This record gives sequence, structure tokens and C-alpha cells, in this order.
Amino acid sequence: MAAARKIIIDTDPGQDDAVAILLALASPDEIEVLGITAVAGNVPLNLTATNARIVCELAGRTDVKVFAGADRPLVRALRTAEHVHGDTGLNGPALPSPTMPLQDRHAVDFIVDTLRHEPVGTVTLCALGPLTNLALALEQAPDIAPRIDHVVLMGGAYFEVGNITPAAEFNIYVDPEAARAVFACGAPITVMPLDVTHKALTTEPRVTAFRDMGTPVGRAVAEWTDFFERFDKEKYATPGAPLHDPCVIAWLIRPDLFSGRFVNVEIECDSDLTRGMTVADWWGVTDRTPNATFIGDLDADGFFDLLTTRIARL
Ligand code: RIB
Ligand code: CA
Repeated sequence: MAAARKIIIDTDPGQDDAVAILLALASPDEIEVLGITAVAGNVPLNLTATNARIVCELAGRTDVKVFAGADRPLVRALRTAEHVHGDTGLNGPALPSPTMPLQDRHAVDFIVDTLRHEPVGTVTLCALGPLTNLALALEQAPDIAPRIDHVVLMGGAYFEVGNITPAAEFNIYVDPEAARAVFACGAPITVMPLDVTHKALTTEPRVTAFRDMGTPVGRAVAEWTDFFERFDKEKYATPGAPLHDPCVIAWLIRPDLFSGRFVNVEIECDSDLTRGMTVADWWGVTDRTPNATFIGDLDADGFFDLLTTRIARL
């Protein structure tokens, strides 16, 4: 067995972020979570920093270090998504407030320090929300860019178009300038856009598999899903909602479940109409240099089998 991959999860929990964190914590053979860094996104920073700790405590992992990061995008006003995730961001089950402490160090300093102290090419950054913390880390310490093993992020859309505007996916839309900096940093990047996450739908049998686990974690996942899927099921008239962020962690464990293309991806930052659009040169019609593996498809049954099997461990 290869050594576990060292990761930092940068996140804006969000029910789907929560499931991604649980999947990572349930997979110690493959993944070592060095820390979790919270960013403003789905809900404001005070809530995302709280929610990250709620999830760790639900998993029985009060040892995990949770750091608070940026409370707003690099240059724009914060846009949140309570209309999807509820007023706390983890609406659904009633879970206790966390007792584990928030780390004193700023999330950006933790990202920089970790990349500088761990051996080169051994740390993967898993971004599940707006990319503000990663961009600030790259701005503060450009020397970390070549030290990053991989950036795996949930964000963007091409064939699936946008979910917060007709052109843009939420994570990129909230902080397009941050996304532009990350996509230009030179590290290997794998993107989980709506093109693939919209194929990871929480159908009733898949949610029942969580509910039938009979565990507090399984029940929480089912009740989170019951809450957040209402919005997407009505909007898209689909039998379930897309489970976006766990795709990032699942790719680390079973990359064979996913397929995509190494293409150039640029971020629109200037137009009000298309701000936050991920312009993926899927058909190679420009001479722009490819900079990201843009995932377009997954084995959805295999993904949910993995998710269910691992979550049942907690
Ligand atoms: O557009 C979906 C993304 O925005 C997910 O990461 C969800 O948690 C929200 O952050
Ligand atoms: Ca998220």
C-alpha cells in the first residue's frame, strides 16, 4: 500500500463539503488530513469555521486542526448561498455546537507553512469552496507554487453552464480573481466542474443507503441531503441533487471512477455578464497552453458505492 496522500482541505461547509470531509476522514489508508482551512462562501466565515468543526466532531476527530481563513473574496463583496444550504450552511440534522477549538494561526499561514515544511511535491490542496485562501497563500508566498503536489478543486462548468449565473459556477463566481491566480500558478490542477458533479445525483436509493446505516453519521448525511437537494431537484427537475464536493476526495481515492481532458482553462473576470465563467478550451481551438485536467464524467454507481462504504466506517 502506498503511503497516504497528505492533503489540506479548503472548504466552505455546506452540506456537500461536509460529506467530502467525512469521506476524507473515513479513508486514512489513502488520505492524511493535515488540516482543514475554512473560507467564506456558502455562508460567512464564522459559520464555515464552525461547521468544519461540527463535521470533525461528528466523525469523532477532534484532533483535526481547523483554521479560519478569508472572510471575503480578494476584491469583491462576498456572495453566499443560504438559498441552497440554509441559514447555517449545514441545515438538516440538529448537531451540537463544536467544543474543539479553532486554531489561532490564520488559514493562509497554515497553508504556506505546511507547503514550506513538508517535502516538495507531497501536499495536495483540495479546494471545495471559493479559492480565496489558496490565492492569498500564493500571493503571500509565491515560492510555494512549485512545492504543491496537486490542486484538486470543485468549481467551474463548461458544457453544464453556470449554477449561480447563466455563465458561472458558484465557487468560481464568488472569487474569480482568486480562481485566475490558482489556475495560473503552475501546479498540476484537476477540476471537478458541474459537468461531472451534475452526474453524481443523490437519488432516493442512494440516500436511503446512508439512512439505513443506522449510525449518527449516516443519519446526518441523509438529513443533510434531504435538506439541500430540495433546491436542485426543483430547479433541474432531476431525481436527486448533485453531490459536488465529495467528487474531489473520491478522485484522490479512486481516480479510475472519473474521466476528463487536459485543456486550457481561463477565468473570466472582467465582464459583469460572464464573470466567473471557466472558459475551457475543450476542443483545442486556441493555442493557449493546457493548465488543468477538466473532468467531464464519472461512474456514478461506483462513486456512491465508495461513498457509502467509507461513510459506514465512521
Ligand atoms: O457550485 C457548487 C459549489 O458551491 C459546492 O462547492 C458547494 O458547496 C458550493 O460551495
Ligand atoms: Ca463547497
